[in-house]
Amino acid sequence: MTSPKQGQGTSQGQGMSQGRGMSRRGVLRRGLLVGAGAVGGGVAGGAIGADVADAGSATRERTEPFWGTHQGGIVTDTQQHTVLAAFDLTATNRVELVALLGAWTSLAGALTQGQAPTVPIYAPPTAAQRSAYADATDASSAADSGEATGLGPARLTITVGFGAGLFSTGGTDRYGLAAQRPAALVDLPRFPGDELVADESGGDLFLQACADDPQVAFHAVRAIARIAPDVATLRWTQVGYSPSNTGGTPRNLMGFKDGTMNSNAHPPADLDATMWVGAEGPEWMRGGSYLVYRRIRIALEHWDRLVPSQQEQVIGRHKDSGAPLGRHDEFAALELSATDPHGTLLIPAEAHVRLAAPESNQGAVIVRRAFSYNSGTTPFTERWPPWRQALEYNAGLLFLAYQKDPRTAFVPIFSRLAITDALNQFTTHTASAIFAVPPGATAPGDWIGRTLLAP
Ligand code: HEM
Repeated sequence: MTSPKQGQGTSQGQGMSQGRGMSRRGVLRRGLLVGAGAVGGGVAGGAIGADVADAGSATRERTEPFWGTHQGGIVTDTQQHTVLAAFDLTATNRVELVALLGAWTSLAGALTQGQAPTVPIYAPPTAAQRSAYADATDASSAADSGEATGLGPARLTITVGFGAGLFSTGGTDRYGLAAQRPAALVDLPRFPGDELVADESGGDLFLQACADDPQVAFHAVRAIARIAPDVATLRWTQVGYSPSNTGGTPRNLMGFKDGTMNSNAHPPADLDATMWVGAEGPEWMRGGSYLVYRRIRIALEHWDRLVPSQQEQVIGRHKDSGAPLGRHDEFAALELSATDPHGTLLIPAEAHVRLAAPESNQGAVIVRRAFSYNSGTTPFTERWPPWRQALEYNAGLLFLAYQKDPRTAFVPIFSRLAITDALNQFTTHTASAIFAVPPGATAPGDWIGRTLLAP
């Protein structure tokens, strides 16, 4: 059995941030190495880091590993910001797809290590194809857009996923991959209460960019989207955040600590058993994982009408400490059969943690990596007396759950939650997607997807 840290592999260690306290000399030396072509994959680079070597920049200078057995951004300590992006593929053949994934990988590798890249133009459009990305002179700029200059890598990670549409779409096997679709990449069923917006769900390709600076995360998605104008088009994006966790487990918008158990911060002991695809999966997915994404809107106005003790009955944990009801320590084990002197269950039968815990789901485990989102307000009008009109928050949780096999993890767990979870009174799932997240690119020159497309 491997520990969580060992489970991630030597070059993709959880919390293995590099560059903490890096000296000016170290920063400059890295810049020279980059200039000397230390980065493979055809990305020309200079060092953004050299601009930010001043005191106080240590946080910005921190990097997370990119090359390794597993992709970064899965068990990596949660960064404070995320930008999620899904793409529809328009590549007409496999050669274009291979070139795209190679270019994405080398650019992602450079960006995560803090190098200012020249953005390779994938396929300058012809006059007939000219898209909004091309300029009026038939040439496209290969210059970086520049908004992340001076911001450092800020622990940027970029994680790439494959949706069902990569393998076949509308019954068409566009890239000769239909037979390779893993059985675990299921079409998620429609769950009770789902109110999914189709245009903000699904996608053939997926990017999860996480960083401790919002503009670094956005820049990464923007740069990567830019090199795919005629082979992959943006389908949806979503922006989320997680408060600094220096004070312990971060709190979600409901005010509760979120991530105490079965999260990337406190993962299950054996990641090979719960997270990484092994010999039971297709060869090309070994070392990869599966991601289920749900955008979950929370009726904050409704939630705020409950006193904290009522809220605690819904979640099954104390609001202040995060401990299971009846306990004092956040990390105390859930005692699902514990009762008060009257014989009443301490953790109610319909409490969220009771229903979600592995103990209630034949051991099924997901590893959560949650971010809050806040997209302003939307108007709300009652069509019945007293005809109230108001603005409601459009806010909630970007629920990201990694697992070895969704058929034995997210699907059975949420099938039950969707029916009986007390939390359902306050939540609505408005977007959904599922992706196969292949293993990492092992070294410069390797690329994400090689195990599928060029084994
Ligand atoms: C807006 C939606 C949600 C909110 C606000 C929320 C909040 C929470 C909170 C506060 C906890 C307790 C602290 C912790 O262990 O992290 C928790 C635990 C958990 N939640 Fe959620 N959750 C949401 C949706 C979901 C969904 C959709 C699933 C899965 C299908 C899920 C699965 C879990 C699991 C597995 C645990 C850990 C249970 C344990 O082992 O103790 N949650 N959630």
